[in-house]
Amino acid sequence: MKRVFRWVGGIVAALVVLALAAFGFFYWRGGQFLAAVHDVPVETIAPAADEAALARGAHLAAVYCADCHGEDFGGQPMIDDAAFAVLPAPNLTRGRGGVGGRLDAAGWVRAVRHGVGVDGRALFIMPSEYYANFSREDLAAVVGHLMALPPVDRELPERRFGPVGRTLTGAGPLREGFPVLRIAHDAPFAVVPPIGETAEYGAYIARTFGCPACHGANLAGGPTHGAPEIFSPNLTPGGPLAAWSEQSFLDQARSRQGEHMPWRAVAKMTDEELQALWRYLASLPALPNNPPPA
Ligand code: HEC
Ligand code: HEC
Repeated sequence: MKRVFRWVGGIVAALVVLALAAFGFFYWRGGQFLAAVHDVPVETIAPAADEAALARGAHLAAVYCADCHGEDFGGQPMIDDAAFAVLPAPNLTRGRGGVGGRLDAAGWVRAVRHGVGVDGRALFIMPSEYYANFSREDLAAVVGHLMALPPVDRELPERRFGPVGRTLTGAGPLREGFPVLRIAHDAPFAVVPPIGETAEYGAYIARTFGCPACHGANLAGGPTHGAPEIFSPNLTPGGPLAAWSEQSFLDQARSRQGEHMPWRAVAKMTDEELQALWRYLASLPALPNNPPPA
């Protein structure tokens, strides 16, 4: 009997040592990835300078960027969890604590279109894989507007990954959140359909805004940003939107609130943009709801 116990004890001890070794390895590997300077080929742009393009840039920045970087683009805390990560959406202005003064045109493109920060770090959560679909003109408009922002003085903590965040990054599951790993960095700029209330233009909005990040690649429903407990509904005519009209879509877009669906950003879209989105969604094949993840 004693011998059996010793034997079992030995196995348990070996397993504990193995688990610690695996943890240590993934912790180390996560740290390597997070500290690495990511070098990507950047095709730079000339930031927009004329009034019409800057006005478009201001609109796009308000719709696409302000939810995370703040209405004044001075940044805000996003994750504050010592074990997982401390992550601000950085201050994008030239003010104290802002990165604006350190980014040239190529630096802006590297961050927005390639998911790599001013110091070469792989950006986490910043939705660059969707912004990689912006046309050259739209990217130039956004960057031109952001480069001309009035400075906001706001110091935020440095990004820091805790032991859990580091280990999950090293082991794999968190890598989904680093767009630099999923972008085709040498792809040419997208050619964009003319702005208008068409399904084609709506598809461009969905592609650049990232509706599929939550509603699934085929938009028939999905775990929000990969989190299975928050399910984003089917947006094809096979789901609940079959009962909606274009007008009810516009009304909902302007009045709904919610924690996970970015209604605040969608509400800033013009009627033309919302009509385009609606017509795009209505043009999709009617798919049954994707099953929620087990
Ligand atoms: C879902 C939230 C979210 C949205 C929307 C978003 N960002 Fe970000 N962005 C972040 C976070 C978080 C970081 C910091 C990531 C890190 O440090 O790992 C970041 C980083 C950046 C950086 C890099 C700054 C640096 O320190 O090097 C730039 C530039 C930037 N964002 C611009 C934009 C622009 C332009 C838009 C709109 C087109 C936008 N962001 C939309 C969350 C967001
Ligand atoms: C960050 C994740 C996320 C993104 C990005 C996102 N959604 Fe959602 N969406 C949700 C969640 C979660 C819900 C369910 C909760 C709610 O209705 O507020 C939802 C609900 C909706 C609804 C209401 C459906 C119903 O049956 O009531 C519509 C319409 C919608 N989204 C359209 C869009 C469109 C169009 C886009 C892109 C422009 C988009 N969403 C981007 C997460 C997201």
